[in-house]
Amino acid sequence: APWFSYRQGVLHAGDVALPKLAEALGTPLYVYSRAALRAAWQGYQRALEGRNALVCYGMKANSNLAVLKEFARLGAGFDIVSGGELARVLAVGADPGKVVFSGVGKQAWEMRAALEAGVLCFNVESQAELRRLSEVAVELGRTAPVSLRVNPDVDPKTHPYISTGLKENKFGIAIADAPEAYRLARSLPGLAVVGVDCHIGSQITEISPYLDALDKVLDLVEHLAADGIEIRHLDLGGGLGIRYSDEIPLAPADLLEAVHERIRARGIDPNARRIILEPGRSLVGNAGILLTRVEYLKAAEAGRFAIVDAAMNDLLRPTLYEAWHGVLPVVPREGEAPTYDIVGPICESGDWLARGRPLSLEQGDLLAVESAGAYAMVMASQYNTRPRAAEVMVDGERWYVVRERETVAALMAGESVLPDRR
Ligand code: LLP
Repeated sequence: APWFSYRQGVLHAGDVALPKLAEALGTPLYVYSRAALRAAWQGYQRALEGRNALVCYGMKANSNLAVLKEFARLGAGFDIVSGGELARVLAVGADPGKVVFSGVGKQAWEMRAALEAGVLCFNVESQAELRRLSEVAVELGRTAPVSLRVNPDVDPKTHPYISTGLKENKFGIAIADAPEAYRLARSLPGLAVVGVDCHIGSQITEISPYLDALDKVLDLVEHLAADGIEIRHLDLGGGLGIRYSDEIPLAPADLLEAVHERIRARGIDPNARRIILEPGRSLVGNAGILLTRVEYLKAAEAGRFAIVDAAMNDLLRPTLYEAWHGVLPVVPREGEAPTYDIVGPICESGDWLARGRPLSLEQGDLLAVESAGAYAMVMASQYNTRPRAAEVMVDGERWYVVRERETVAALMAGESVLPDRR
């Protein structure tokens, strides 16, 4: 990617040499590119031109305030899944009128906060949730705008842990049960039906699963219309994949064009209803790297290990999904490149970041783990009492620390011990 490129044999983020950042801020370090965020947004902006559509950034992918503020400035809406995420979007001054609230387990306090903020829509996932939401809204003297998240039972052809639209998943309401749920929604005093929602999975690289889902959603919309239930927007969720190794990502403009084509084919004006998308990964995934330093090299019978200062607590995706992330030497060396497993210091065999990578390494070298802008820092933990990494945003030749490195003291701050026993 042009945002992270070699100049005179040194990997840079924008115009900043990564060794300089490592020296100033230490490692492990998440490095993001403001230009990359803006370029990814441009891809969606182009797709939206001339269409009745809204992009709500699936902020679970990376919820750093600096990232949120950047997208808010660009005019994005947000897809939130918790009261905590709501607090973040409000903290950056985003427009709550462009916020959709997703998630299978919304609590009453979260509903209250979202109603008070005035979100665009609640994506509701069960009849029990409809009832609770109506009660909360009535108590506040408000009406909650709702979509039902339906489960279209299509295979997104991605990793099973991140496919969410199959009928065996916990998500959504089976599409066959949706008409009944909509009738319930209509009958409840605190609710106003505004849309239909689905989200079929993540890291999707084909258009066809979206269109399969859309067909089922459009059938439902017709059915509901016959029932006198008017649907104003279609939320097709997120899920557009990115390039980790050799994937060919879907262009947002191609997806929206195909979606409009499909709606037009039914003789419906595609701009009559608003299309909402909730992309996360595709807006941030390749806008970040994880910078880490080799602590030790170790040859064992099983092979060679490069033990680095980042670990599964910093980047969980390899451990959890066997995800593949590219690993680049920050200052490539000439010579022999034996095969290494890149592993962290945590006491688990599952603690690896990459396996079988040919690299020419020495102790102390810096490595950049690629595609670490999405589902990376947000999934970090403090396992092994490892303070979470710092995050820095590069903008041209400037850089801004957007999250300080956690301290061990902060990590213990909320804990206490019992009084001595007498
Ligand atoms: N909307 C809903 C309702 C979602 O559940 C998700 C992601 C998104 C939007 C955004 O999807 P995206 O555009 O980022 O694919 N931790 C996993 C990914 C989990 C995705 C969860 N839902 C990973 O690291 O691959």
